[in-house]
Amino acid sequence: MQPPPGSSSGPAAVPSAGAPAPGAFPGLVVPDHALLRHKLAALRDRETPSAAFRRLLAELGALLTAEATRDLPQEAVRVATPLAEAQARVLPAEPCLVAVLRAGLGLLEGARSVLPEAPVGHIGLVRDERTLQPSEYVVRLPPGLARRGAIVLDPMLATGGSAVAAVARVKAAGPAWVRFVCVVAAPEGVARLLAAHPDVPVLAASLDSGLDARGYIVPGLGDAGDRCFGTE
Ligand code: PRP
Ligand code: URA
Repeated sequence: MQPPPGSSSGPAAVPSAGAPAPGAFPGLVVPDHALLRHKLAALRDRETPSAAFRRLLAELGALLTAEATRDLPQEAVRVATPLAEAQARVLPAEPCLVAVLRAGLGLLEGARSVLPEAPVGHIGLVRDERTLQPSEYVVRLPPGLARRGAIVLDPMLATGGSAVAAVARVKAAGPAWVRFVCVVAAPEGVARLLAAHPDVPVLAASLDSGLDARGYIVPGLGDAGDRCFGTE
């Protein structure tokens, strides 16, 4: 990882050159978090090997899931500590976690470390490299979603085609609410997802500049599925 010319150690968020300000999308949250930026820097680095890439994706999955659940409604309970009774607050039910295959599996591992009782769904989508249209090859969602919300996990929000399709699948199962969590988002994908599903908040570690001619996010991090599973 090389320091950019003229860089300083200032604490400010580092938007990609040319990226719109995150405030351009009211439905998008980009947390101002040094640890997220630190891990994302290593994830972007093309020299990062697959095993480290997978570990970083899992760590980002845990951090982003914590952010995505920050304001969920809670119930008041009383718990007995070894010393006294304490007032506490708990989630009525852990939300369902839905991984968009394959790359979403990397985020899922970390998300499950902080929501260990969450039921898990899988949606298999693959993007045609020429048309950039997603095609679906598997859907497995747990029953009983009406009692809880769902967090859809996919590290890359590029054109938004896969995210729009995945969220539609999840909504059809009737969860109480849906949130979408990714690592790197392109403005095109955010706009398309929020236009199709304005009720679904989007959380990203970074809003990047845009897409290249092949539909890859720039600067992005390359092909997340290939880097995660060593298939490049
Ligand atoms: C990647 C990524 C998203 C999708 C984003 O998956 O994980 O699912 O592309 O692109 P879009 O926003 O333009 O739809 P890919 O189809 O490469 O499958 P993979 O995870 O199995 O590699
Ligand atoms: N899918 C990826 O894995 N990376 C991109 O930049 C775009 C789609």
